[in-house]
Amino acid sequence: MKKCVVLKGDIIWTESPDRFEYQEDGYLVLEDSVVTGVYPKAPEGEHELLDFSGSLVTPGLTDLHLHAPQHQFAGLFMDEELLQWLERHTFPYESRFADSSYALKAYRSFVSDIAGSATTRSAVFATIHSDATLLLMKLMEEAGLSGYVGKVSMDRNSPDSLREETEEAIRDEEQFLDEASAFRNIKPIITPRFVPSCSDRLLEALGKIAMERNLPVQSHLDENVSEVEWVRSLCPWSSSYADVYRHFGLLGDTPTIMAHVVWPSDDELGMLLERGVYVAHSPSSNTNLSSGIAPVRRFLDMGIKTGLATDIAGGSSLSMFRMITDAIQVSKLRCRFIDSSEKPLRFSEAFYLASKGGGSFFGNVGSFEKGYDGDILVLDDKAFPSVLRPELSVPERLEMYAYRHPDAPVSAKFVKGRRII
Ligand code: GUN
Ligand code: FE
Repeated sequence: MKKCVVLKGDIIWTESPDRFEYQEDGYLVLEDSVVTGVYPKAPEGEHELLDFSGSLVTPGLTDLHLHAPQHQFAGLFMDEELLQWLERHTFPYESRFADSSYALKAYRSFVSDIAGSATTRSAVFATIHSDATLLLMKLMEEAGLSGYVGKVSMDRNSPDSLREETEEAIRDEEQFLDEASAFRNIKPIITPRFVPSCSDRLLEALGKIAMERNLPVQSHLDENVSEVEWVRSLCPWSSSYADVYRHFGLLGDTPTIMAHVVWPSDDELGMLLERGVYVAHSPSSNTNLSSGIAPVRRFLDMGIKTGLATDIAGGSSLSMFRMITDAIQVSKLRCRFIDSSEKPLRFSEAFYLASKGGGSFFGNVGSFEKGYDGDILVLDDKAFPSVLRPELSVPERLEMYAYRHPDAPVSAKFVKGRRII
């Protein structure tokens, strides 16, 4: 017989970007960890009831792009733009992950923080170090999280301490992938850091490996003006930055996430759409590193698959609620100062991007429609009294929570139906 679990509470989710679905005092029903639906009454038949009355119950949120080794210095070095920030600060800190005792301390701290956050799924960059990357996967798996982790590939324009020789980088990647297949809920993902860090030969090999092993890909695209110019000079044969990835089989031949996409050409946007590539929109990082404001309204209007991301440590906060409100705020600045035809994001749209938008990269994730995985957050907004609360609708309560308490600990969290908090 199927195991039936029912959560009672004020249940809210988005099926499409334009509006919330919700059921006040409702019942979210899971059978064998998979959602069957949300109902105004408890189901008949045997079930375990988890009573979260008066709390908000939402889908888990997806962080579609972040760098676990950068978590320890998040909040520092925000006066730099991308390329200086990488060279002066990020690369030296990432080099430390050659030391397994540092890696253990740093990754324990990262996993503890992300496990306590609103994030249930994530697509994570580690470093070039296979041992430390496997350790990160193990710690995330043990914490009950689900997602992808990539050993970062780099063979040029990087310090010696954070660079492999090309053939060594390819061999190490293959060996890492063999060992990483041991995990159940944390899966490997092919991770060329970005074009400036990877020779043509390495990109070509990674594209082949992704195809042969049918593995997803993640990288960075069109983040910063100097970076885009650099790629043009490194790959004069290409028609664009995205074209370099396309050429090497790293742009949608297997499921692909490209982070940032602040400065895309029309051709590149067409390529992302046609190839089903996901954009990881990282509003906080794009502001901190002075990268710019990504055209998220264009992504949505064109139908490009889009999720939200913290990009730790370009972004300084692990909170996906903060990403929701940051995405709305920067979209208003873009509309006001760059292109008035690109209307700002509404709250339901930003929530959709953080839940079902990015979640769909992982399958049926990020909604409470029938057949969705039991990724669930319980948010106790009673803990933050407002005399207006009795008058507020469930979507208004969620909006207030996102803006006012983005870093509040979640009071319960389920990943694939398993309670981890
Ligand atoms: N591009 C290449 N590497 C990085 C990184 O670590 N962070 C960000 N934001 N962009 C990058
Ligand atoms: Fe990044």
